[in-house]
Amino acid sequence: MRSISSAHIQVRDVTKTYSGDGVGTTALENINVTLNKGEVTAIVGPSGSGKSTLLQVIGTLDIPTTGTIHYDEVEIGTLKRKRLADFRFDCIGFIFQQFHLLPTLTALENVMSPLLPRRVAYDKMSRAEELLGWVGLEHKRTALPSQMSGGEQQRVAIARALVNQPSWLFADEPTGNLDTSNGEMVFQLLRKYQKEYGSGIVFVTHDQHLASQADRLIEMRDGRVISDVPKGWHA
Ligand SMILES: Nc1ncnc2c1ncn2[C@@H]1O[C@H](COP(=O)(O)OP(=O)(O)O)[C@@H](O)[C@H]1O
Ligand SMILES: [Mg+2]
Repeated sequence: MRSISSAHIQVRDVTKTYSGDGVGTTALENINVTLNKGEVTAIVGPSGSGKSTLLQVIGTLDIPTTGTIHYDEVEIGTLKRKRLADFRFDCIGFIFQQFHLLPTLTALENVMSPLLPRRVAYDKMSRAEELLGWVGLEHKRTALPSQMSGGEQQRVAIARALVNQPSWLFADEPTGNLDTSNGEMVFQLLRKYQKEYGSGIVFVTHDQHLASQADRLIEMRDGRVISDVPKGWHA
């Protein structure tokens, strides 16, 4: 497999302003942060503080109004649409609170779906089966999302996000719709991926207990990072 993997993401002087209805909303104000591969980073903060916007801008799903984002030496803002799509496929996985599985596809088809339009150097079906097994759901391969619990659906979404083994995984409140034990299971899968693949994991959460298990805690308020505490912060 072509190996593109970046060790750091550098966010420099990033702002994001939404201008709808003639009223501008500043979602991000002058964010400067460096994320390290091999770490699990939690982002916390009140609703509306810019957590999702930051994750989307860092994860290349949205573009900043000003500032730059580098994955090692690659400045994301300089990539043309096609190269950005390739870069995202090679480097980035995303999961969301609402799972966003395709309702008419089985678990296995959902996991395989990102690979279908792509040329890859491995067998797509075996890879998808491998990932479904990795999240402990090989027995659900033919189940539709409507036939699975919330926790199972999120594990399928995780398998789909990881199917091309990205070096970065971004998760926006991945446990927000789950009970405590399913939330813990999801967190343990993120941790397992970081351990086995040395990937960088960045997740937004309102769950203090999960946040306390991260290697690093970034706290946001009003579009700014108000604290950034590295490994070992929890005594
Ligand atoms: N697409 C959008 N258009 C206009 N305003 C937005 C949009 N997305 C987010 N915002 C605003 O940006 C701010 C940050 O939102 P968000 O990043 O979703 O915060 P959080 O994820 O911390 O709840 C909020 O004031 C929100 O209303
Ligand atoms: Mg949000």
